[in-house]
Amino acid sequence: MRAAVRDRYGPPSVLRVEEVPVPSPAAGQVLVEVAATSVNLSDWETLRGSPLYARIGGLRSPARRTPGSDIAGRVTAVGAGVTRFRPGDEVYGDNLALTGGFAEYAVAAESALAHKPGGLSFVQASTIPQAGAIALQGTAGAGPGRRVLVNGAGGGSGSFAVQLAKRAGAHVTGVDNAGKLDHVRALGADEVLDHRRQDFTRCGPYDLVLDLVAHRSVLAYRRALAPGGRYRCVGGSVPALLRVLTIGWVAGRLTGRHLGVLAVREGPAHFEPLARLVLAGEVGIHVDRTFGLDDVREALTHVGAGRARGKVVVRIR
Ligand SMILES: NC(=O)c1ccc[n+]([C@@H]2O[C@H](COP(=O)([O-])OP(=O)(O)OC[C@H]3O[C@@H](n4cnc5c(N)ncnc54)[C@H](OP(=O)(O)O)[C@@H]3O)[C@@H](O)[C@H]2O)c1
Repeated sequence: MRAAVRDRYGPPSVLRVEEVPVPSPAAGQVLVEVAATSVNLSDWETLRGSPLYARIGGLRSPARRTPGSDIAGRVTAVGAGVTRFRPGDEVYGDNLALTGGFAEYAVAAESALAHKPGGLSFVQASTIPQAGAIALQGTAGAGPGRRVLVNGAGGGSGSFAVQLAKRAGAHVTGVDNAGKLDHVRALGADEVLDHRRQDFTRCGPYDLVLDLVAHRSVLAYRRALAPGGRYRCVGGSVPALLRVLTIGWVAGRLTGRHLGVLAVREGPAHFEPLARLVLAGEVGIHVDRTFGLDDVREALTHVGAGRARGKVVVRIR
């Protein structure tokens, strides 16, 4: 089969498409003929090995040769003990533990996958698992009268998060670079801020901040929150995340606010609710561009360079 492979961390040029053996599913695993794999910022981070948390499992060189986690495709074989799927089933899920999505076939744990709804194309389904779980958990607590801010609102998770917070009745502010602010407005944001020109921590206060790209000081985040407010970050620089986990936790407790890193729970129970909202027409999927497997480097660069509005998808077949 054809697969994108790399042997070291580095820029997109370390990635090449070559012939490799089709993997075999072990017990509890499923072999998927991949139709589409969406790109997440986490793919860019694990390609480059930066921030440092992207090297978990492989400090010096990548533990997995083929990146790509948000897959959608068709089951072609199942390992021992698999009960929920059989060959021919259409599935989708976040294969973060095993990756391998930028390839014609990938093995995934049965527990990572869900049956793909017939109303979603493979491309659409591949956009949901990781970004959907982040957005659903990151906007928990949004509701009428609450002021919600999403930092990184124009990307994959942010585009879902803005819509979810808006649908919950919150007043939503979206922060991203100037080129994405029209997109963020179109998602329903009440206010938009250009992060290169405006400092959101001085524009609040907010009841809930979901930060996809944390890199500021704890004092700045604390300043952005109303009394009782909650700041959750999911990604960003390692020093910023460590500061939030340590000083942030203490500073929050002392001042009646909550600052923390959101450890996103994965799996179908955490992304299927978003698929249901999409099917009901309550949340939209925004695919910025699709690429072929041969253009996987360009697909990753498009996301890594911050050009994507919403999601980018690699069509494998
Ligand atoms: N905590 C967990 O358990 C967990 C699980 C999975 C993933 N993650 C993490 O979640 C993060 C979000 O992923 P994603 O796929 O949604 O990312 P994405 O699609 O790339 O979206 C991030 C957005 O933030 C914007 N941005 C960059 N720097 C910014 C700044 N300083 N201020 C405001 N906006 C900025 C980006 O645009 P520009 O670059 O053009 O500015 C982009 O639009 C990743 O870091 C990933 O590792 C965490």
